[in-house]
Amino acid sequence: MSRPQHLCIRPLNVPDIAQVLGLEMQGFPSHERASALRIEYRLTVCPELCSGLFVREFDTEAVNAKELPDHSTIKKETLIGHVIGTKMVSEAITDESMLVPSSFVPGHIYPLGHQDSGRTIGIHSVVVHPDYRGKKLASLLLKDYLQKMNQQYVADNVSLLCLEKLVAFYSGVGFADKGVSACKFAGEEWHDMALTLDHDEDEEE
Ligand SMILES: CC(C)(COP(=O)(O)OP(=O)(O)OC[C@H]1O[C@@H](n2cnc3c(N)ncnc32)[C@H](O)[C@@H]1OP(=O)(O)O)[C@@H](O)C(=O)NCCC(=O)NCCS
Repeated sequence: MSRPQHLCIRPLNVPDIAQVLGLEMQGFPSHERASALRIEYRLTVCPELCSGLFVREFDTEAVNAKELPDHSTIKKETLIGHVIGTKMVSEAITDESMLVPSSFVPGHIYPLGHQDSGRTIGIHSVVVHPDYRGKKLASLLLKDYLQKMNQQYVADNVSLLCLEKLVAFYSGVGFADKGVSACKFAGEEWHDMALTLDHDEDEEE
């Protein structure tokens, strides 16, 4: 199994929207895909819960120059995988957690969309570009995401929905199968998958 060189994992941000939308199209049929508005909303209100796996290309002339370049040598970043989440007050993904509030009044807790005071991260999308699948890159990206969320005390739990065929994959990353979800998004039968962030690593030091 070979992996591309110059992989980089970093939080996604508003300028990444076009690449994220392109990858969503590669990953999901239209009825399962998040709308452009939902992606824009999530990357705007909670970019720290959205992580991208990029392949970087460098300006090799600048890298090999005798003098230290006066600019970054990164020439291009191509998104090949992403994890997109929001925070929720509920412990499992609900239809409301996937929505975008139509108006926003500071201090008011809406029962839908991103809930900043929530202690559960709801992961709404995990995708790896078809050209890069089968290299354990989704596992790499998810493990990195979970470690960061754990060590930064962002939340105490992580939940997601997946189809039966991916239960084994998410179990391998540490999620427990909580059975068939009450959520019937896109008219399909989903499994509630849940993981507890125990923050243990910090306490041991
Ligand atoms: C699911 C997905 C993210 C996996 O990406 P990946 O980088 O190829 O995953 P990995 O290489 O880390 O694979 C991990 C394991 O999951 C298995 N797996 C991946 N996709 C699978 C699928 N569609 N059906 C069954 N098993 C699958 C792999 O066979 C592998 O199993 P192994 O460890 O026994 O070899 C990728 O196939 C994808 O983007 N699919 C379309 C979008 C999607 O369905 N996302 C999940 C939404 S819940």
